[in-house]
Amino acid sequence: MKKVEDYVRSIPDFPEPGIIFRDITTVLQDPDGLKLAIDGLKERLDGVDFDVVVGAESRGFIFGAPLAYEFGKGFVPVRKKGKLPCETVCAKYDLEYGSAEIEMHKDSIKPGQKVVVVDDLIATGGTIEAAIKLIESLGGEVVKVLFLMELAGLNGREKLKGYDVESVITYP
Ligand code: PRP
Ligand code: ADE
Ligand code: MG
Repeated sequence: MKKVEDYVRSIPDFPEPGIIFRDITTVLQDPDGLKLAIDGLKERLDGVDFDVVVGAESRGFIFGAPLAYEFGKGFVPVRKKGKLPCETVCAKYDLEYGSAEIEMHKDSIKPGQKVVVVDDLIATGGTIEAAIKLIESLGGEVVKVLFLMELAGLNGREKLKGYDVESVITYP
């Protein structure tokens, strides 16, 4: 019986020397891989009381939206700067290779809403730390942070101290 980690393809030196890129396209393109990934995330939300799923562009959309659908909740995208048409809040952050800015619509989270944050992978934690900052600036309460994959050696969890963080696959 294959596990979801068996479907992840690891590419050395992409996009820069020294990075081992954890490629999820091989998970997604296989019906069993896709099901294992969504089910692995889904089981970590059983019994969690939440109102909305927030996913980070772009790979966080792939996993966040089906989870929201499964639990009968809405999905809110965190987008890279310049993509959202209405009033936004914005945060700058660094990641394993480079830096970026993300935005959310100001009216996307209502004060007091319980939020589950989803992404495919945590590396330095910069992306999701910035997303949490935005969610909280809108009055949301982050009740769970879920990743398919965690690069434990990069210590991203340090940035998310105090939050309930879970990952389906952990790489050293
Ligand atoms: C990747 C990955 C995570 C983030 C993790 O996204 O999908 O979102 O990096 O890195 P961090 O923990 O150091 O912030 P990326 O910004 O490369 O873009 P993509 O999702 O659009 O492919
Ligand atoms: N995002 C940041 N670091 C990554 C890695 N090593 N593999 C895939 N996505 C990433
Ligand atoms: Mg991403």
